[in-house]
Amino acid sequence: MNKNQPNIGEDYIRFHKVMTRGLAVSLKNINEFLINRALEKLNREGFLKYVQSFSSVLHGHHQAEDEKIFPYFKDKLSEVPYERLVSEHLIFNDGLNEIKTGIDNLTSGNDELKSLKLLKSGLDKIDRIWHSHIQIENTQLYERIGSLNIDLEEMIRLKIEDKKFFQKHTGPAYLVMPFVLYNLSPEDRAILSQGSQEMVTKQLLSADWKDKWTPMQPYLLK
Ligand SMILES: [Fe+2]
Ligand SMILES: [Fe+2]
Repeated sequence: MNKNQPNIGEDYIRFHKVMTRGLAVSLKNINEFLINRALEKLNREGFLKYVQSFSSVLHGHHQAEDEKIFPYFKDKLSEVPYERLVSEHLIFNDGLNEIKTGIDNLTSGNDELKSLKLLKSGLDKIDRIWHSHIQIENTQLYERIGSLNIDLEEMIRLKIEDKKFFQKHTGPAYLVMPFVLYNLSPEDRAILSQGSQEMVTKQLLSADWKDKWTPMQPYLLK
């Protein structure tokens, strides 16, 4: 397949980059907060929104893999260890449940230290298997999609369907969209928003959205 042609495998590799950074930034900061036994007052809202966005993106991502991507490629790339990957998604869900409880408690100001520890425990659970998990997905599945010679029309259909599924299963968009874009390098960001850059920027800077996501900025890339 031509390098410049749309390839859903490359999109998924890009999303892995988003979450790899999201996980590292969340863990680095939570470790610092734990030393002080509390969230930093100034960035409290931004950090909680950042981790909340990470959780939503991770959940939507592996839901799309379980329900759309894996069934679609099962026969085409039959040697991928799909069962192992699906069972690892369940471990991610355990971690995500802890993160959700931690965030809910921190948002309502309950049990600061206990909730921070829960947040860290959830992130650690994910981190322990994350890197080998995406290594398998990238090398055995996503990097091989280009050699399957899926025709252009079908690839575009897959991409549109995938985008719809992801948008339906993640949210709120005013956190998820900037989270995805600004955990990517400027080069990857430009590829992801190809053709809709102006629209995206306009949306992000709209009165409706701006105040909601900008508290995350200390944790995002420029
Ligand atoms: Fe996965
Ligand atoms: Fe994945």
